[in-house]
Parts: sequence; structure tokens; C-alpha cells
Amino acid sequence: MEGAEAAASDDEVLRSIVGHLNETLPHRRLRIVDAGCGRSSQLPIAREVEITGIDLDEDALQARLRTSQDLDHAILGDVRDGALIAPGSADLVISRYVLEHVCDVERAFANLARWVAPGGLVVVQIPDRRSAYGYLARRTPHRLHVWYYRTVLRRPHAGEPGRHPYRVVYEPAIGRGGIRALCERHGLVLRREYVVDDLALRRGPEWTLIRTGLRLLSRLSGHRLTARHNNLAYVLERPKRDPAPSQSDPPRDAVDTDRPTGSAPPRGTGG
Ligand SMILES: C[S@@+](CC[C@H](N)C(=O)[O-])C[C@H]1O[C@@H](n2cnc3c(N)ncnc32)[C@H](O)[C@@H]1O
Repeated sequence: MEGAEAAASDDEVLRSIVGHLNETLPHRRLRIVDAGCGRSSQLPIAREVEITGIDLDEDALQARLRTSQDLDHAILGDVRDGALIAPGSADLVISRYVLEHVCDVERAFANLARWVAPGGLVVVQIPDRRSAYGYLARRTPHRLHVWYYRTVLRRPHAGEPGRHPYRVVYEPAIGRGGIRALCERHGLVLRREYVVDDLALRRGPEWTLIRTGLRLLSRLSGHRLTARHNNLAYVLERPKRDPAPSQSDPPRDAVDTDRPTGSAPPRGTGG
């Protein structure tokens, strides 16, 4: 996979990202915005941090405050609302498995880019809509996702308030080309890209069946949909001196879509 590092699990990616953060942001106290923070804590950072969590789901936010107790500030709000955080006030903005749930990813991404300070980092993790897994997730009904979580992942409370799975949108930007185009439009530099196959390590007959099904779907698609990874992770940097934002629209092949590029989301203002 050109330009991307392969990783076998989210844990491996997180370890690598934390190493990168410690090298590039050796501040004493890291100001972190966790955009779409959910109910449990995220990065295993062993240093002083000040974390602001934003989430639309009050039950998830309350659970995070009750159990992880790692948030210094909790905001019940929408990552598409740029006014939630002062521009340039975070050393690290992290958004893990949130953008695939958002309508108008452009606006949400613009805010992530706006909230980070010059020299700071944005970490984004998403499923790849162009993977066989992503294709199935966006083409199947939400109730099937709830069944998958309860039955295959054995999470009996899945789908209850404050718990996964959340409804997915998978706008065309949720892929490798889409994220690169967003970076260009919003002045972020791509420092690291990971392709993650976190299904590969799972053991048991149900996972063998799922992997076989995904490989078959990949073959049926003429390998347009990959079965080699399901997730993507990015470390993006806001340069110390902002480059002039690109005036041109992304090249037609820069947005991952199986729809005509004319239907890509409008260029947002970020709130
Ligand atoms: C799949 S969960 C991921 C949670 C957490 N980041 C993690 O990695 O465990 C998606 C989270 O994004 C939140 N979310 C979805 N759309 C959002 C939006 N527009 N603004 C803020 N939070 C949102 C959901 O409420 C949910 O908590």
C-alpha cells in the first residue's frame, strides 16, 4: 500500500501514534480535544494532559465522566459546530471512528483543522469506505449492525443509549483519497498514514467465515474493494506557518466515491 504503514491492530497504531506525539510535541502539558469522545478513554499517554471531550450523545459523555474520569472539560455538542473550541487552542485533536457517522464531513474536518495550534497534530481514525468491510457497513441496515455487535462481538448492550453501534453515513471523503483532499483544502500536512487490518488477529470460526466472505466480496468487486485492511489511521500536522489554502477543487480522482464526483459534499465553512 503506497505511502501507508500496515498495522495489525488499533493498539499497534495507538502505540506508534503516541511515540510520534512524544517526539513531535514534547510539551509538559498536552492540551487535547477528543472530538466524538464516546464512553471510554482513548490514547495511552503517560504524561500530563488536559482533555476536552466533545460528544453528541449525552449518555456516552456521562459514562465517560463516570468511568474513565479522564476529561477535564466535557462538551455536549456537535463537532460540526466550530464555536465549541477556540481556534488554535489544542496541541492534539483526536477523532477516532467518528467521521463515518457525520453528515458534512467537510465541516467537521475543517473544525478539527481549525482547533489545532500551529505545530500541533490531528489524529483521525476511520473505517475505509472502499474496503469490503466498509462497503458492507454502508450498504446494510443499522439493525444488522446491532445484531452483529450483540451476536458476533458478544456485546449484549449494543445499541442501547450511549453504546455502539452508531448509525453510519460514510460520506465519499471517508477513504484515502478523500482524507488527502481534505488535508489539502484545510491546510494540514499528512505525516503518517496507516492501513489497519484489525480483523486478521481475531480467532474463531465466525471470524474465519467473516474474513472468507470479505475476500469473496473483494474478488467479486474485481479487487476494487480491498479485503487487506478495514480501517485507516492518520497523523496530520498543522504547519507552524500555514500554507496558503488551495484555491482549486480536489482533482476528480482525489475523492473516494462510487458516485459521480459532482455529488461530493459542498466545501464547508467549518461553522
Ligand atoms: C463509534 S463511536 C467512537 C467513540 C470513541 N471515539 C471511540 O473511539 O471509542 C462514535 C462517537 O461519535 C459520536 N458522534 C457522532 N457524530 C457526532 C457529531 N456530529 N458530533 C459529536 N459527536 C458525534 C457518537 O455519539 C459516538 O460517541
